[in-house]
Amino acid sequence: MFLQGIANFIDDLMGGFQLVGLAMLVGSIVWALSVLRVASPLSGAPEATLTLSARILRWGALLLAGAQALKIVTKGLVLAATLGTLPLADYASTVQFEAGSIRLLLALVAAAAAAWIAQAPQSLGRWHVGSAVAAAVVVSGGWLVHAVGRFEGRELLMQITVLHQLVAAVWVGGVVQLLALWRASRRDAGLRDFWPEAVARFSPVGMLCVAVLVVTGVALAIDYVGSWSGLFGTGYGSLVAAKVALLAVTLVFAALNFTAGRAWKKRRNAVRPHGPAPRATDRPLTVVARVPSYIEAETFLLVAVLFVAASLSSLPPAIDIPQMTAQVHEVVAMFAPKLPGLTTPSHANLLAGEAERLAIVGRVASEAATDWSDYNHNIAGLFLVGMGAFALLSYLPRMAWAGYWPLGFMMLGVFLFFRSDAETWPLGPIGFWESTFGNGEVLQHRLATLLCFALGLLELRIRNAGRRQSGDPRYAFAVLCAVGGLLLITHAHAPFELKTDYLIQSTHLVMGVLATMMAVGRWLELRLAEGKIPGWSRAAGLFSVSAMLCIGMVLVFYKEPLV
Ligand code: HEM
Repeated sequence: MFLQGIANFIDDLMGGFQLVGLAMLVGSIVWALSVLRVASPLSGAPEATLTLSARILRWGALLLAGAQALKIVTKGLVLAATLGTLPLADYASTVQFEAGSIRLLLALVAAAAAAWIAQAPQSLGRWHVGSAVAAAVVVSGGWLVHAVGRFEGRELLMQITVLHQLVAAVWVGGVVQLLALWRASRRDAGLRDFWPEAVARFSPVGMLCVAVLVVTGVALAIDYVGSWSGLFGTGYGSLVAAKVALLAVTLVFAALNFTAGRAWKKRRNAVRPHGPAPRATDRPLTVVARVPSYIEAETFLLVAVLFVAASLSSLPPAIDIPQMTAQVHEVVAMFAPKLPGLTTPSHANLLAGEAERLAIVGRVASEAATDWSDYNHNIAGLFLVGMGAFALLSYLPRMAWAGYWPLGFMMLGVFLFFRSDAETWPLGPIGFWESTFGNGEVLQHRLATLLCFALGLLELRIRNAGRRQSGDPRYAFAVLCAVGGLLLITHAHAPFELKTDYLIQSTHLVMGVLATMMAVGRWLELRLAEGKIPGWSRAAGLFSVSAMLCIGMVLVFYKEPLV
């Protein structure tokens, strides 16, 4: 039980890191050829950009190899734990093991190729060899996706999925390159002058990737999801819906970057006939003042999309589980406004119900346990709605005192410490070690409780330290929200989950997506304030707080579905 839960979690997490590694690997190659235009007389890219790309290519290949290796080991461990012994020969003859091992080897070859490219980054021939290895890595992924197990349209589905993965990798990899270029340009004037050119050159590549992503994504969704109840009523479908939602927000930033790049290009072309290209240090251009922050926001969102995509691959396609599909109205009912439960059963009743549940095989949760869980969710929701309201107030003049709202997170942390999994330590008879390391769910709840308390403590100090607070700690809240969002998104589903479990998990997935929005909004608020763009900074802050309010509402209206 414990190993299975943790193994699924590690498997999805490694799946996400794999896709990030693949994006850095493939994206670096396309970036070097299409944006840096290696060895072309029109390149204009400083040599440092090529060295940087070769370095990111190498990191990506190593990340992909490492995550792939851990995935192969985790699956073997689960097999051994389930069967009591590891049938190595049988395991080694599975498609997962064979294709996974080939991809691992190819990723190591790509890492070696990257080191070779870095020795002569101006050499187009070396980048071409790198492209060939990257192409093999991409194609090998075709045997690691659902299509390989389909009877109908297997080859076509494999090709569409590989094309979908490829353009996703090119887009995300290009955004990672932009991020790295901007960071490096802070120490290098030559790179800073090349920055606007890089943004302008990459935008059309990004837009093309988005177009192909949407077309191939919709084709895959039609085949694997097949209906509205499949989309909203299954773990698989809801992850596809989450991807579409995250993509929609990401496209706002992609469009802002595209417009800024085009405006810079127009200006450059307007002045070039008579003089040099406008320098990045001239009057602050949007492409310099705002685009770096938008690129950071885009990276947050795209990494979240990749982790959602990775979780997709470990779930059965919606079309294959009609008997476990919730109807759209049942999902809507989970989020529909309801009066929160403000009374809790006694702890003694909870434990009595728990003992009864454990005594009879397959007996569902007791009424006391259901009411206890509803109360926890509803009260947690009221905490967040309260914090959201004060946070909104804190943006009004002479309402700085409302800035103490993060205190609510600390109080919520204490509430969850005592109330979540109350059949275990500290309130319940099951000890700390046995409960924390014997049940994957309890471990994740303890992590969430700790995260909640840390969030409050950090943000309370930062939001009420006024001008005195500067530097990176201010960004911790956004990063912790992003981590929390990823935890909620990746822990959301177990294969072949019961409909009732899915209905519960659907609220976690929505909260995961909202937590990602919270992270992006807070990050942008700080970045744009640093860039002396107060209006947009406030808008980003209000966006973040609104996402927190929505999480609160989901929790206030939460009710365990009746079996
Ligand atoms: C309209 C938007 C989109 C739709 C409908 C969509 C749909 C899908 C579907 C149905 C699959 C699963 C295929 C399978 O089960 O094998 C999938 C896989 C994938 N998607 Fe998307 N997608 C969309 C956008 C995106 C975006 C924006 C990205 C990343 C930037 C992305 C990256 C991926 C990746 C990497 C996979 C492969 C996951 C794996 O098997 O490891 N998708 N997508």
